[in-house]
Amino acid sequence: MEGKFSILIDGKECQATAGQTILDVAKKNGIYIPTLCYFPGTTLVGACRVCVVEQEGARNLVASCAMPASPGMKIRTDTPRVTEARKMVVELIWASGDHNCLQCESNGQCQLQDLIYRLGIEKPRFEIDPPGYPVDSSNTMIFRDLNKCVLCGRCIRGCNEIQVNEVLDFAQRGNRMKVGPAFDTDYIQSTCVFCGECMQDCPTGAIINKQGRFQGRPWEIKKVRTTCTYCGVGCQLDLNVYNGKVVKASSDRNHGSPNWGSLCMKGRFANEFIHSADRLTTPLIRRNGKLQEAGWDEALDFIADKLKEIKAKHGPDAIGGLSSARCTNEDNYIFQKFMRAAIGTNNVDHCARL
Ligand code: FES
Repeated sequence: MEGKFSILIDGKECQATAGQTILDVAKKNGIYIPTLCYFPGTTLVGACRVCVVEQEGARNLVASCAMPASPGMKIRTDTPRVTEARKMVVELIWASGDHNCLQCESNGQCQLQDLIYRLGIEKPRFEIDPPGYPVDSSNTMIFRDLNKCVLCGRCIRGCNEIQVNEVLDFAQRGNRMKVGPAFDTDYIQSTCVFCGECMQDCPTGAIINKQGRFQGRPWEIKKVRTTCTYCGVGCQLDLNVYNGKVVKASSDRNHGSPNWGSLCMKGRFANEFIHSADRLTTPLIRRNGKLQEAGWDEALDFIADKLKEIKAKHGPDAIGGLSSARCTNEDNYIFQKFMRAAIGTNNVDHCARL
């Protein structure tokens, strides 16, 4: 078939299509190649070199995440040269940061930690002074500790290419290189809109959800998939529950449509109302100027009586109905039907037009 060809990976004949990288083909064929900066759906940068493989006839090791597969390629993913190169890269990354897993929120879900373990590295051979960056705790949503940053650039690509907010980029050069907003400001002073995309894409604990800090380890958290209620898009998110309490929300890029793991600020962070003491949990009826708790049947009867009374006295157009963009389409359909057919007015609108 046009555009199809085969390549050999670790002696296995693998089918490839024009445009696929070596990593794409390996994944499709169940062959493991570690990655760190690789971020599907964004520009391929081949920055970290964790995914290097040996290509027969090539002088240097090649980054499998960025190298297109071509007919007849012979690839080895597990030679001593490949393993040594990966170890060197990971040791340098480890040594150039302050990766203290004991208090790190990402302990147990950190890609750097997984790489170190999988490559069997006991301790980095190098001693590099930790960068000593001050942490950014300037806001209530995102906590940034650049001492744990591995400069993979995934947060930058997420910010610029997925959310198109264009807040983050690399700054400085050499061993002073770091990621951040323009003019090296805190997030709160930058143009960040707090969608949390950078946090979602970070493979380590450098950018984390501040709401969930010290609120349960990853393996203690139960994730409950649900649909965000803030608008009608239907974004899928995971409520993270610890000890029966929602401690934060996260999302899953693999879930797919409609949001592919991205969320807005409200979906990602505005969930503290769930356990708020101020939250209304029962209907209230004002009697003698004071709001008093009532049952649902009692409240609905009260509303029906009042609507009938207004309609009888002033006609149906004296009543207006306001629905919500947070309701489902079905709820909004029923509501306008109720206003038109039961009340008899076209005075119906919803909050998105206010
Ligand atoms: Fe391929 Fe980083 S994952 S170079």
